[in-house]
Amino acid sequence: MDANFDQLDELREAGLARVHAAADSDALRLVEREFLEKGGVVAALLAEIPKLAPEKRREGGQGANQLKTAIQNAIGEKREALLEASLMVEAGGGSFDPTLPAAPMERGSLHPITQVTREVEEIFQSMGYTVLDGPEVELDFYNFQALNIPADHPAREHQDTFWCDHEQNLVLRTQTSPVQIRAMETLEPPFRVIVPGRVFRNEALDATHEHTFHQVEGLVVGEDINVGQLIGTLKSFLTEVFQKETDVRLRPGFFPFVEPGFEVDIRCPFCDTGCKVCSDTTWVEYCGCGMVHPNVLRAGGIDSERWSAFAFGMGLDRLVMMRNKIDDLRQFMGGDLRFLEQF
Ligand code: PHE
Repeated sequence: MDANFDQLDELREAGLARVHAAADSDALRLVEREFLEKGGVVAALLAEIPKLAPEKRREGGQGANQLKTAIQNAIGEKREALLEASLMVEAGGGSFDPTLPAAPMERGSLHPITQVTREVEEIFQSMGYTVLDGPEVELDFYNFQALNIPADHPAREHQDTFWCDHEQNLVLRTQTSPVQIRAMETLEPPFRVIVPGRVFRNEALDATHEHTFHQVEGLVVGEDINVGQLIGTLKSFLTEVFQKETDVRLRPGFFPFVEPGFEVDIRCPFCDTGCKVCSDTTWVEYCGCGMVHPNVLRAGGIDSERWSAFAFGMGLDRLVMMRNKIDDLRQFMGGDLRFLEQF
């Protein structure tokens, strides 16, 4: 384009039209080069100024600068408009409508074990219990020895244990019972605590056995604590959980840390007359419990002449299975959303 001071207006119109017509940043860049850079229209005009009559030079300089500013501004605006348009396209295609409501967020739900844990905590808290926590990697001392299970005791064979070190001092706790001892060490009697938590056993997997499952331990230490209170507590708890009066049956059960010890059965939730789950007896095993052995109280630093205690331990996975008629324990750790989304 010839640099001609008589045609400043035309030059400006032509330049602005090119800017408006530019469809992308490449086209814009071309106009920029042609008008504003070295060897461009504005530069050519400025180079002409010395050749003008002296009284025309000032006017010529102003004209060239106005042309430059007009094109510069137009390019800047157009660049922003192009950028905005490309963002719109990126955000939602050509038909992006910013006023539409966002796509609904998928909401997860609490794991059934978390749900039942909270429920159990609430029920026991309403009966005056405190909720405690304990380590999942536990010392042999707490998991076994202090619970009246010395190193050579055959009861150790009931709980296939994941050992964590060569000296066999550390285990993945096989039960929540070690927290009984930890509670005795830290709390002043009388007290009532429950301890929900994960436990681990090195068992062969099948529909009723998992390497990881969940228990809730209960411990009540006081003066003249007795079996009647233990049974009453379990019955009140079961009535709340199942929302109906629940039959229980006590059988003698052996756990080294209680004496006497019991296994508690409840009526089979799957049938009235006998089925596979209850081996045709209409009773299913529900939890272990008993009066805390004096050796255990002593190991926890409690005067066994003055204080007595009961303890119970029950499976939380079992509880959900019985309440919701689930027949495979492996579902809980399986992470299958089709299962979990039902809760
Ligand atoms: N810890 C025992 C188990 O895992 C259950 C239990 C707890 C029994 C407390 C008696 C008292 O089998």
